[in-house]
Amino acid sequence: MAAEHDENVIWHSHAVTRAEREQQHGHRGVVLWFTGLSGSGKSTIAGALEKALHDLGISTYLLDGDNVRHGLCRDLGFSDDDRKENIRRVGEVAKLMVDAGLVVLSAFISPHRAERQMVRDMQGEDGFIEVFIDTPLAVCEARDPKGLYKKARAGELRNFTGIDAVYEAPERAELHLDGEQLVTKLLVQVLDLLRERDIIKA
Ligand code: ADX
Repeated sequence: MAAEHDENVIWHSHAVTRAEREQQHGHRGVVLWFTGLSGSGKSTIAGALEKALHDLGISTYLLDGDNVRHGLCRDLGFSDDDRKENIRRVGEVAKLMVDAGLVVLSAFISPHRAERQMVRDMQGEDGFIEVFIDTPLAVCEARDPKGLYKKARAGELRNFTGIDAVYEAPERAELHLDGEQLVTKLLVQVLDLLRERDIIKA
């Protein structure tokens, strides 16, 4: 039986609260959820943002699809069910990290609206900031940093997002970024939003 439905598994409230941890960090915990096609620039932008936040003294952690799939999600592939489980696990990890008071940046294709909504629901409205890196498929394919689009077009790689697997673009992302712009310009837009939301100081 799953533990959440087992009456013998009981939630324990610990002595240090999220609010106290956040106070120690000097800022709120929040998830910045980057979504977009493979090659859209999610990892690059999230990585540059993490560096900028770290330099401002913010406690951060970057969860990245390619890295998580080497460990926590190494047993998962790219079927719809596996992608759903991938995002569920990452959502739960992000939730723990937010509870620890961190600013969590996540870079996953997360192609399905329903899974992104699931993570949003887990975090609560003001704990989840969805950032859509909107880069046209043709541009991602021309970049093809890992040569995967070429393989997908050749039929050597199945279920590749944008080729023979779906990407459902966000309809209500908090931030909609033009993935063809310079990273430095995009960073300014994310940092402005974080200031507006009082996550970093003006
Ligand atoms: S997600 O769809 O489950 O959110 P995730 O972000 O973890 O995907 O992993 C995507 C990365 O896995 C891509 O950037 C790419 O490098 C690699 N990859 C390998 N096979 C596929 C595939 N069939 N579709 C998309 N990405 C793939």
